[in-house]
Amino acid sequence: MEGFVNINGLDFSPQVCEHICTVISNESVNDQYKQLVLAAPEPALQAEPGQFFHLLCPQHDDLTPFLRRPMSVYRIDQDNNRLYFLYKITGAGTAAMSTLQPGDSFNVFGPLGRGFWLKPAWQNLLVVARGVGLATLAPLAQIAHREGRRLFAICSARSPEYLLSVEYFRELGARVHCVTDSDGSSNVPAVEKLIRDLIEQQGIDALFTCGSNRLLKLLQKLGREYNLPGEIALEQQMACGLGMCYCCVRTFVRDGKRVDLRVCKEGPVFDLQEAIAW
Ligand SMILES: Cc1cc2nc3c(=O)[nH]c(=O)nc-3n(C[C@H](O)[C@H](O)[C@H](O)COP(=O)(O)OP(=O)(O)OC[C@H]3O[C@@H](n4cnc5c(N)ncnc54)[C@H](O)[C@@H]3O)c2cc1C
Ligand code: FES
Repeated sequence: MEGFVNINGLDFSPQVCEHICTVISNESVNDQYKQLVLAAPEPALQAEPGQFFHLLCPQHDDLTPFLRRPMSVYRIDQDNNRLYFLYKITGAGTAAMSTLQPGDSFNVFGPLGRGFWLKPAWQNLLVVARGVGLATLAPLAQIAHREGRRLFAICSARSPEYLLSVEYFRELGARVHCVTDSDGSSNVPAVEKLIRDLIEQQGIDALFTCGSNRLLKLLQKLGREYNLPGEIALEQQMACGLGMCYCCVRTFVRDGKRVDLRVCKEGPVFDLQEAIAW
């Protein structure tokens, strides 16, 4: 394919390669999440919302992550050549990432996958996500701000200290509703009422979510009822991240048929109604 680079028989856009970045900061957001800021070369900054990088996490004492780890782009600052990741420390790879210090080099491969695809008619976007899923959806706020689309965000978390990205969404003009388990506002009936109100009063015309099975089922139901399109960013354990090993395959329903697709290559963003709740 013209204009594309071929890696082991698969076509990728030319900016897909290893980028050696420099760590600017790597600070805690709360006791579970950290934000990594990298100085990145220009091609890496061409990543689109919903795309991800495959990160070569450092080997550190007893932390020896073997494979790269996939991570969505949280934010891109093209004016200052900065690439942001927001991550939860869950195992060896992310624990090793948390040891990165300003000035360290960090090898990221990408940008990979198919990101969000916003149709021009989608002018009023609703993002509903929980925990680190908000990291994946945050770049939608950047796009909405740049293109003059309205964005509404429902940010969900266990308790207020784990609410992520709220200020970032607000800075970009989003109208944010916070819900938490601690005060009961994140339970399904309460969130459903909030979404229904937003759809009916604000003319929402597309729905976006990430990661949570509960939210996927709810948005699929409301999407069908109100005839609204939408997209979901899925997370799946990955090895190659390139489409070669097939370890990230999930089953979807497309045109009434069950199809197996690679989350790293055909996704990680998929049509909301095609995803199968797990
Ligand atoms: C496209 C994509 C984007 C992602 N974006 C982010 C992000 O922005 N921020 C973030 O914190 N995390 C994100 N993740 C999840 C992240 O890749 C995993 O948390 C990470 O790979 C875990 O590595 P580890 O070595 O720290 O933990 P491991 O020891 O590998 O795993 C710890 C636990 O997490 C589970 N796990 C590992 N990888 C995944 C995965 N990919 N999906 C679901 N469960 C997993 C394991 O089963 C295990 O229970 C993303 C994943 C994908 C596929
Ligand atoms: S991770 Fe290898 S095909 Fe998706």
